[in-house]
Amino acid sequence: MRRASRREFLGTAARLGVGAATATVLPLAVAGRACAAKPRRAASTSADVKTESVAGDSSLGAHGAAHGLLYGCAVNMNALGADAAYAALVREQCRIVVAENAMKWGALRPSAEGFNFDQADALVAFAEANRMKIRGHNLVWHQNNPKWFDATATKENARGLLVTHIETVAGRYAGRMHSWDVVNEAIDVAGGRADGLRNSVWLRLIDEDYIELAFKTAREADPQALLTYNDYGIEPETHAGEQKREAVIEMLRRMVARRVPLDAVGVQSHIAAAVSTDGNKSAASQVGAGLMRFIAAVRELGLQVFVTEMDVNDRALAADEPGRDAAVAAAYRQYLEMVLGDPAVRLVLTWGITDRYTWLGHEDGRADGKLERPLPFDAEGKAKAAFFAMRGAFDQREAAVSHG
Ligand code: G3I
Repeated sequence: MRRASRREFLGTAARLGVGAATATVLPLAVAGRACAAKPRRAASTSADVKTESVAGDSSLGAHGAAHGLLYGCAVNMNALGADAAYAALVREQCRIVVAENAMKWGALRPSAEGFNFDQADALVAFAEANRMKIRGHNLVWHQNNPKWFDATATKENARGLLVTHIETVAGRYAGRMHSWDVVNEAIDVAGGRADGLRNSVWLRLIDEDYIELAFKTAREADPQALLTYNDYGIEPETHAGEQKREAVIEMLRRMVARRVPLDAVGVQSHIAAAVSTDGNKSAASQVGAGLMRFIAAVRELGLQVFVTEMDVNDRALAADEPGRDAAVAAAYRQYLEMVLGDPAVRLVLTWGITDRYTWLGHEDGRADGKLERPLPFDAEGKAKAAFFAMRGAFDQREAAVSHG
């Protein structure tokens, strides 16, 4: 008998009134034959994970919470509205969510005058209905600005545009947000500036104090949200990674010295599972002391550290899925066990939760054109080895911090 895919299953389970939280262990039952969930055992490959419970107390959210961590994911709002199995998976696994795109300028600002909050409001409603916390992403970025912006923004009006945007957006959800990515990716060492600041439209029009202006405006608009600086490329144990870490920490030190309101740093954590000569090391092992020094330096500034956008791309790996899944799982395990060793790390979000909707592969994907497998659940919503690797890394974490 063909086993129902998770997607079909959760649809059936919903019609049968079976809660999503238990549907994970019911595939065989709803497909027409009863089965007791097999005793838990260490699962190592996707093939082994089909009967393990991954919901309720076995979910990533529950295991994270048991160790002082919030786990969640970036949410694709189109999928959330159209794909019941996806919505059930997010509900089952996450304690915090962030909009992948719905709270960016590109989504919120169809015109210079108007705001469109439909998808942002839908995410906030979904999160609050499911007692999840919410991250906002993002208030200032060099990408995804609407077309009218480039034609309209000038040195004269840019400050007003920025302040109005932040006051309107952060003000709309004041008191309801766990945190905001206030400024995203402001450092680009390759740009050549001594301070490493990216030559973005915001720098060109407002100069470097756009960063301070953004954080101060956000604090006034929502005094309860944890204000976050978010960036990528901080992870690798490379010269470029070290340069970026130095530029970011120096910027953070300047901000703290000037009492710019700032509470946390987001380390995006888009990493790669690359098989090296010994076949075992993953790219995560190319992440190490430099990142941990950076995290310690952030902690010493009195700031929290959030893993904000984690995924593990498998584009350099051979095509076989079990091999890719094992390498991706190893990268999750190594990376998370390392960073979770620092008590300042309070959040882990993956950038998506199922391979079905990953952003990876739409541009520079796998050479063989196969869908990448970077996330804890596969395209059918089945838990992969990465799921168990993440959960194991959470379990390794001493409950070093309790959530504020
Ligand atoms: O919604 C439009 C659709 O109407 C249109 O037909 C289609 C084709 O042009 O584009 C759709 O918008 C796309 C949007 O994703 C929603 O799918 C944009 O073109 C596309 O550029 C956008 O890509 C997002 C990207 O940020 C840029 O905003 C990715 O989904 C998203 O995963 C990615 O996320 C970023 C974080 O925000 C910051 N850190 C890096 C991370 C990965 O790049």
